[in-house]
Amino acid sequence: MSQVKFYGESQYPLEMHKVKVVQKLNLPTIDRRLEAAFESGNNTFLLQNKDVFLDMLTDSGVNAMSDRQVAAMNIADDSYAGSATHTRLEEKILEIFGMKLFLPVHQGRAAEHLLAKAFVKQGDVVPMNYHFTTTKAHIGLMGGSVSEIHYPEALQVNSDNPFKGNMSPELLKKEIKANGADKISFVRLEAGTNLIGGQPISIANMKEIHSICKVNKIPLVLDASLLADNMYFIKVREKEFKNKDIKAIARAFADNCDLIYFSARKLGHARGGGICTNDEKMYKKLRDFIPLYEGFLTYGGMSVREIEAITVGLDESMDFNMINQGPQFIAYFVDELQKRGIPVVTPAGGLGCHLNAMAFLDHIPQSEYPAGALATALYLASGIRGMERGTMSEERKPDGTETYSNMELLRLALPRRVFTLSQVQYAIDRITWLYENRKLIGGLKFTDEPKILRFFLGKLAPVSDWQKKLVAKFKKDFGDSL
Ligand code: F0G
Repeated sequence: MSQVKFYGESQYPLEMHKVKVVQKLNLPTIDRRLEAAFESGNNTFLLQNKDVFLDMLTDSGVNAMSDRQVAAMNIADDSYAGSATHTRLEEKILEIFGMKLFLPVHQGRAAEHLLAKAFVKQGDVVPMNYHFTTTKAHIGLMGGSVSEIHYPEALQVNSDNPFKGNMSPELLKKEIKANGADKISFVRLEAGTNLIGGQPISIANMKEIHSICKVNKIPLVLDASLLADNMYFIKVREKEFKNKDIKAIARAFADNCDLIYFSARKLGHARGGGICTNDEKMYKKLRDFIPLYEGFLTYGGMSVREIEAITVGLDESMDFNMINQGPQFIAYFVDELQKRGIPVVTPAGGLGCHLNAMAFLDHIPQSEYPAGALATALYLASGIRGMERGTMSEERKPDGTETYSNMELLRLALPRRVFTLSQVQYAIDRITWLYENRKLIGGLKFTDEPKILRFFLGKLAPVSDWQKKLVAKFKKDFGDSL
């Protein structure tokens, strides 16, 4: 996106790339969408892609790659040991983050698995600005627990705080005092905090948290999966960095933590993951797990072709005109919905547009999963696949009772450089219709509920015949339109 100003009043996000390769999409009829919702147990994770029109489930592994990335895949060196492909990634990591010790892993959660295995002991606590599903599950499996330390605004759906992802230094100090530093495996900061709506952290906050960690000799770990969006927000929202280039911002993140891990399905626009640090001790503890769980040190379970794409993807992520596409499209999406009175998370964050299902469907109790109900209703109304980020994404307590999520969100991810503005406008149109017909939407109940990460594979059914009524109203309003 450029800094182009328009002659007319409206300011539109303007792409600084063109489309070279396309994939044909299919928008099934509403009758087929009703069948597909049933077949998938009303879980958007279980929909077949042939039944999906706009796939806004995630931005993980589905961002558009550049011509340079695709070209680089062809020069991959697949030698098992001493691969030049690995060296190129290692050098790029050193150049960007100034970290000389790099470990490849097959994706972000593999890094979380190894971090938990290496550093979390039974009864340990891991303070973080907010949990992520897989992070929390891995820490829990090692007998540790997560303590979320943020400001109240983090959980306020609507706020003008530009850095809702920030960790509260005062509360962190209290947490360290309450547990004792030796019970804290590490402190984790998540850039572009996923589950509260892709909200950024500031460099000023990182500096403060890092200094507390240093005093207490606790490592600070950065989850940089959503770093690209966060770097954009630093540039446009944190005064000190207004005139800094993206590389300087990336280095400011790295200089204020002890270890970085990332999902390269997000950062680097490919498929894979990595861990980097300058701390020899941490490195060695993690390194020994790589050949056991991931693969040899030169590929860590990734294809060498993907590693080449990550190296180029990381390099391209240092370009403001590249990383601003996502946040600017998302801001357009959020602003247009807000103009129509539709409840969304504000300020607009990274990753995607987040509908506030708690307010959208205020007649549905959390025990009937309003965000899950909104996900299936939006699929019926539009063929758009979103992701539930609410109570369904939580785990039950040991006594079987629900853990009600702080927020009930339907996340509509905008994989970068994938959708056009007219496709976003279609989404806005169908969400507007759904909002006007929201009272027709009812809740869901589990019919098949896995114990761990139930949102991935669980199946649900509507609590009444509300879906049939919603489909009938769609047909009345839209006639034979898809
Ligand atoms: N950390 C964050 C902040 C993430 O958003 C993700 C993945 C991971 C770690 C795990 O990485 O998928 O490569 O194993 N988020 C995906 C999503 C799943 O759709 O938001 P992974």
